[in-house]
Amino acid sequence: MKPHYHILFTYLHLIFFIQSINLTPTHSLKIPRLTPLYKWKTTLHNLEKLVSIEKENVETFYYKQVLDHFNYRPESYHKFEQRYFMNFKYWGGANSSAPIFAYLGAEDSIDTYPTGIGFMTDNAATFKALLVYIEHRYYGKSVPFGSRKKAFRNASTLGYFNSAQAIADYAAVLIHIKKTLHAHNSPIIVLGGSYGGMLASWFRLKYPHLTIGALASSAPILYFDNITPHNAYMDLVSREFKEVSETCYETILKSWSEIERISSQSDGLSILSERFNTCRPLKQYSDLSEYLESMYTAAVQYNGPTSSRVSEICRGIDGASFGNDILSKIYSGLVAYEGNGTCKINYAPSNISDEVYEGWSWQRCSEMVMPIGTGNDTMFQPDPFNLKRYVEECKKQYGVSPRPHWVTTYYGGHNIKLVLQKFGSNIIFSNGLKDPYSTGGVLSNLSDSLIAVYTTNGSHCLDILQTRQSDPKWLIQQRKKEVEIIKRWIEQYYSDLALKVNIRVD
Ligand SMILES: *[C@@H]1O[C@H](CO)[C@@H](O)[C@H](O)[C@H]1NC(C)=O
Ligand SMILES: *[C@@H]1O[C@H](CO)[C@@H](O)[C@H](O)[C@H]1NC(C)=O
Ligand SMILES: *[C@@H]1O[C@H](CO)[C@@H](O)[C@H](O)[C@H]1NC(C)=O
Ligand SMILES: *[C@@H]1O[C@H](CO)[C@@H](O)[C@H](O)[C@H]1NC(C)=O
Ligand SMILES: *[C@@H]1O[C@H](CO)[C@@H](O)[C@H](O)[C@H]1NC(C)=O
Ligand SMILES: *[C@@H]1O[C@H](CO)[C@@H](O)[C@H](O)[C@H]1NC(C)=O
Ligand SMILES: *[C@@H]1O[C@H](CO)[C@@H](O)[C@H](O)[C@H]1NC(C)=O
Repeated sequence: MKPHYHILFTYLHLIFFIQSINLTPTHSLKIPRLTPLYKWKTTLHNLEKLVSIEKENVETFYYKQVLDHFNYRPESYHKFEQRYFMNFKYWGGANSSAPIFAYLGAEDSIDTYPTGIGFMTDNAATFKALLVYIEHRYYGKSVPFGSRKKAFRNASTLGYFNSAQAIADYAAVLIHIKKTLHAHNSPIIVLGGSYGGMLASWFRLKYPHLTIGALASSAPILYFDNITPHNAYMDLVSREFKEVSETCYETILKSWSEIERISSQSDGLSILSERFNTCRPLKQYSDLSEYLESMYTAAVQYNGPTSSRVSEICRGIDGASFGNDILSKIYSGLVAYEGNGTCKINYAPSNISDEVYEGWSWQRCSEMVMPIGTGNDTMFQPDPFNLKRYVEECKKQYGVSPRPHWVTTYYGGHNIKLVLQKFGSNIIFSNGLKDPYSTGGVLSNLSDSLIAVYTTNGSHCLDILQTRQSDPKWLIQQRKKEVEIIKRWIEQYYSDLALKVNIRVD
């Protein structure tokens, strides 16, 4: 039993709203979040609280990381401090070649990982594993150029912020760890969730000499370059609402034109501000519509394994405790879901910037071009993905053009089965089919060791989060399957190692 999960969950839920709703993105810059934990957010305040739970076991380290791995210009040799955590509590040690589990950081600080990522701690004792958590460059405390402000100044300083540099960082850190611990023969398993899951799978493909296998949880590596239909994500969100309640779906569908109609009246925005109890007066229709849209998508993406967030919203909407007109119903859904204690929408700007938002904005405007649009047949207003508009907005914001084909050029993705079945090995692609991002995930076995493990009713990254007593059988089963596969990889490694005494894998 892991009692902390719930605390973490609700706590993060609260913090997100305090910190980030003010950052209303321009229209096409909005994107469903790509992070294992629902609305997780780090501030100095929550950091202490969360880290304290596993604090006694986690030690913090910094590695002098090179700014640019890929050329030899003098400025490439600049260094920055890259943070990582290690937890030695369970490790069998270098002499017994006990394994290393390396959780690869994604678009966030690593402060919440030691408590949030249950898969690591839950299985560490079984495997006698050393637990390592490495922070992604430009997030948390791993920021080059001396400060966040300087690092984020413009495209010249942001240019070193990309996935290829990030996994090269991970390679360097892992080599450094093995060296300093004399753990030359310890096999490394890399793990990650969501964007971090993509990194884990790509790391295995690019650095097979440094890891014997990867667990890539909810990694939509196929949501690039038109491999996955643009509308798949939002179609799934809509389908889920429709399945839970047809009337709820219909109400949401009708609400957009109603909200739009009112907001276009002369005092419409102030009426809406009052009806939705917004924190500050709404300035435009999208302040409200985008909030609601992200609430609906997040509810599906982070749906609980037993308690359904979508049902909560729909109970509110169908129950209509504030009145029977459409706006009242929608507001009832909001209250049922978020509670009615404080205002939620259009929160006052806070001085603490949302590093997840800022960082991911750059990443999606450079290489992480995931073409997500909304088709004609959903509960949302149609909003097809428009590459031209996407590119223009990015150019306006950063002065550089995104490269929509780079991810597939560098990592592949097209014809993945044909390509990888004879080349790649030892990757678990885990998914839950209720997660809208699963539409861009690997859902079939590509070979004997490139394995898809999905659950029909699972949502985003459930398998790697902390376990709860209420976890359903299918989730326990999924985790068990993953553990068994990893066990086999390690056993195979040890028997290979036994045949080659003195092999050094650093
Ligand atoms: C590991 O092996 C080395 C070399 O044989 C030895 O010096 C060292 O004491 C061992 N460490 C542990 C913790 O057993
Ligand atoms: C970024 O800012 C620095 C310092 O102000 C400046 O020298 C550089 O030309 C800028 N680069 C771009 C791409 O705007
Ligand atoms: C909102 O909160 C107040 C005070 O806690 C409570 O009296 C009221 O019933 C709540 N309304 C709804 C619709 O939950
Ligand atoms: C936030 O910034 C505003 C304006 O720059 C300033 O007046 C205010 O004191 C700041 N608040 C905090 C908590 O730092
Ligand atoms: C969606 O509706 C628009 C406008 O009616 C139409 O032009 C377009 O072809 C439709 N798209 C699809 C995929 O049905
Ligand atoms: C892939 O193969 C594994 C056995 O190696 C199996 O457990 C799993 O269900 C398969 N996945 C799919 C999607 O068929
Ligand atoms: C998924 O959930 C639905 C609805 O609760 C249930 O009917 C179905 O049996 C579940 N499927 C699995 C594989 O657990």
